[in-house]
Amino acid sequence: MVVRSFGPVIVIHGGAGKIAPDLVEARRAGIQAAATHGWQVLTAGGSAVEAVERAVRTLEDDPAFNAGRGACLNRDGEIELDASIMDGRNLAAGAIGAVKRIANPVTLARAVMEAGGPVLLVGEGARQFAAVVGIAECGADALITERQRARWATLQEENAVGVGTVGAVALDRSGHLAAATSTGGLPLKAPGRVGDSALIGCGTYADDQLGAVSCTGNGEAIIKLALAKTALEFLAVGEEPMTAARRAVGELTIRTGAGVGIILLDRYGRIGTARNTAQMACACIRNDNADPEFFD
Ligand code: GLY
Repeated sequence: MVVRSFGPVIVIHGGAGKIAPDLVEARRAGIQAAATHGWQVLTAGGSAVEAVERAVRTLEDDPAFNAGRGACLNRDGEIELDASIMDGRNLAAGAIGAVKRIANPVTLARAVMEAGGPVLLVGEGARQFAAVVGIAECGADALITERQRARWATLQEENAVGVGTVGAVALDRSGHLAAATSTGGLPLKAPGRVGDSALIGCGTYADDQLGAVSCTGNGEAIIKLALAKTALEFLAVGEEPMTAARRAVGELTIRTGAGVGIILLDRYGRIGTARNTAQMACACIRNDNADPEFFD
């Protein structure tokens, strides 16, 4: 018998891959802040959707992560952002791909979800939708950090892993799940390339009947394995959350050899995480313990 955990739970990741030594502390502080902000939403009675959006916004605003401000540059030296969000209550989902000049792509993805029409908007159409719903554009340079500009100039790819992609999964007091993911994608990616973080079932999935997942790492491999949904299918056949996460990443590793990581919550608030990369900064806050727990 499964004992349901009491109280809300939030789990955050700050991207799979090797973290540059000078970013380790900043990443840790960032995921702690994101977990705390999401937790505050949950304990104030907010929904899981509100919590994951709030947590991911914190990370998009933090230049230590590859999302929002501080995202990596594509082949043309521009930032194109992907994000998605899903509500486990009703399978509502929203996503944006290859969008420029939006500081908080997760909020635009949530607006797409709440509009209730298309699940995924990309490029210019997503920018037009942002204007319609009142989400202001920022200047392109407002999102570009010196670190990412220098990295682009030296054409360092770091094994083509989307290092610093961010994500969150949450269970709220009402027992509802949500997941959100946001990224600048891979360094030097082709303009117009959309990765797993914009694709429901690949980088993000939430279903109250199963669980919630956010993925990080090589987007092409994650798409080929539909990794988020694959992990939940392991839960559906009775695996424990940790085993489900490990089996999903294990299968991807065997089939593609690519570097990835995932965080997962089941409908009882139990946590699963797995990675095949050197590091994946994660934090969670659960039950009545408001101190973040860190793991990687
Ligand atoms: N997982 C991030 C990306 O490949 O775009």
